[in-house]
Amino acid sequence: MEGEVYYPSQESTAQSYVQDWEALAESARNDLQGFWAERANELFWFKKWDKVLDDSNKPFYRWFDGGKVNITYNCVDVHLQTFRKNKLALIWEAEDGKSERTFSYYALNREVSRMANIIKAMGVGKGDRVTIYMGRIPEITFAMLACAKIGAIHSVIFGGFSVDALHERIADSESKLIITCDGSMQNGKLVELKKIVDESLRHCPTVENVIVVKRTGHEIPMEGGRDHWFHDLCALPIANGKCATEVMDAEDPLFILYTSGSTGKPKAIVHTHGGYMVGTYTTLKYVFDINDEDRFWCTADPGWITGHSYLVYGPFLNGATVFMFEGGPAYPYPNRWWQLIERFGISIFYTAPTAIRALMRFGDAWPNKHDLSSLRLLGSVGEPINPEAWKWFHRVIGKERCPIMDTWWQTETGAFMITPTPVVPLKPGSGTRPFFGQEAEIVDEEGNPVPDGQEGFLLLKNPWPSMMRTIYGDPDRYVSTYWSKYPGKYMTGDSARRDKDGYYWIIGRVDDVIKVSGHRLGTAEVESALITHTAVAESAAIGLPHEVKGQAIYCFVQLKPGFAPSEDLSEELRQHVSRHLGPIARPEEVSFIDKLPKTRSGKIMRRVLKARAQGLPEGDLSTLEE
Ligand code: WT7
Repeated sequence: MEGEVYYPSQESTAQSYVQDWEALAESARNDLQGFWAERANELFWFKKWDKVLDDSNKPFYRWFDGGKVNITYNCVDVHLQTFRKNKLALIWEAEDGKSERTFSYYALNREVSRMANIIKAMGVGKGDRVTIYMGRIPEITFAMLACAKIGAIHSVIFGGFSVDALHERIADSESKLIITCDGSMQNGKLVELKKIVDESLRHCPTVENVIVVKRTGHEIPMEGGRDHWFHDLCALPIANGKCATEVMDAEDPLFILYTSGSTGKPKAIVHTHGGYMVGTYTTLKYVFDINDEDRFWCTADPGWITGHSYLVYGPFLNGATVFMFEGGPAYPYPNRWWQLIERFGISIFYTAPTAIRALMRFGDAWPNKHDLSSLRLLGSVGEPINPEAWKWFHRVIGKERCPIMDTWWQTETGAFMITPTPVVPLKPGSGTRPFFGQEAEIVDEEGNPVPDGQEGFLLLKNPWPSMMRTIYGDPDRYVSTYWSKYPGKYMTGDSARRDKDGYYWIIGRVDDVIKVSGHRLGTAEVESALITHTAVAESAAIGLPHEVKGQAIYCFVQLKPGFAPSEDLSEELRQHVSRHLGPIARPEEVSFIDKLPKTRSGKIMRRVLKARAQGLPEGDLSTLEE
């Protein structure tokens, strides 16, 4: 094999589900539907499907059509009939380390049922949308599973988003109910989530009720008739007792999750009960090799797809013990995560390159203070991992014993698409090869495959169970964004190259999506936040390489007449974006420009700004306006 290769050790693969990668890949290649049907058969169906894959109306694929199922039933109820009833489902620790909560599967069922009873009592039923906007606390998990249990469609909004982002997403989904908490703790600071909800709800007529979980206990206003404390609702008789699980069609929507695209407003990606369940269950089982002895920690927030698939659904489907931590990696000290791994005996640890790079900078002494010997597998997701960070993670955290699963996937794919399993030889910085049943292709602008070693657009060739089904309320956009440019193939929006060994190397987004610390943001969203400031005539946002964050947001602003560029105004604009869109979108820098480079048809040429900012050649300028 070419380049630097890390071969798996006997120790790391002995208990692995997949012993013969090639054989399983071959069987999935020969019989895609058979492969997935076999996986689906490991889960519980009220009624089995009529057809594994219905591709008669491409690209609106249907999986396990005719099947009757409920993902929550498979996450919770099925485990109550086994020894897992008494097994820990969830271990949670507060950011301040002062409180720890644990739930067995038996307790998880009680919590989920109670939440489901309450949601139902609010008049929410099958197909209704519920917006969830909370910090990383156990109740966010219960809320998601509870919605699914009664057939409501959840829409989780990341707690790092602010008023405008929240408002737009609530309005688009026409949610009837919001589930939130009074606040959340981030690096010792209070984030006033309920206050942000109040502001967002000024023009959201569909919202009838707000359930508020008490987390911080600080004083908040409650609007009579609309806002309800969760603990008050729990005291009502309706909250307790069994809650029937809704029997869903496999293709019924499970959730929508907003994600940023190239242009315009965020898209609500739709995932389903059946296919998404089979996809997340199978990928987590094979890639992270989940066993009953494991303690699995995925550091992602439930507000992103990684949290949905691998903090909540995937692990519970596998009957795993999940660890959830409220805080971030370096508060109050840079050993916080390492301390938690030791304290809770984490065996599988899944995180993002940006966090690894940030923690690497604090030096080896911090992790070396802790016994990390419980670890057996590591994982990375969200953006390309640079070989230096990969090697540090491997050597200092994994003690050269733990393979790193570099998982490439997207909100749209629902589950891992390009990823190793523990038996696969690894190359630092490559996600290795497509998962079982998938084939990738790298093509040029016209769709012709490029030779190995050359960069091109990454496409996926085969349908898969956890694929997005549509964009909520906008099926045309689903077709045009993902399936039109290269008919019959799924366009990922990433560029990549493949090496001689068939390994894929992701380079990055080719559209106007920016990955800031692994968080996906659109240039359009940042620009529309800027434009609401009185001084701004026009603006352009771009992503530039950043040592820790991977990419950072840089903005160029054309001021309205009467406003003069200044340091203060620049800082004010950064704060403006943070307040409106969210702290995660706060630009690294806002600079002023007399005139934005545009094409004659008026499109901002972001690539010219990007090149200029990095001192690179500006390329073809023939379309630039006078
Ligand atoms: C984009 C999708 C789905 C996980 C969280 C992100 C980038 C994701 C990797 C990886 C290189 C990666 C891609 C992709 N990405 N994982 N292992 N190596 N790049 O989901 O927010 O929908 O973002 O994240 O650019 O298109 P997302």
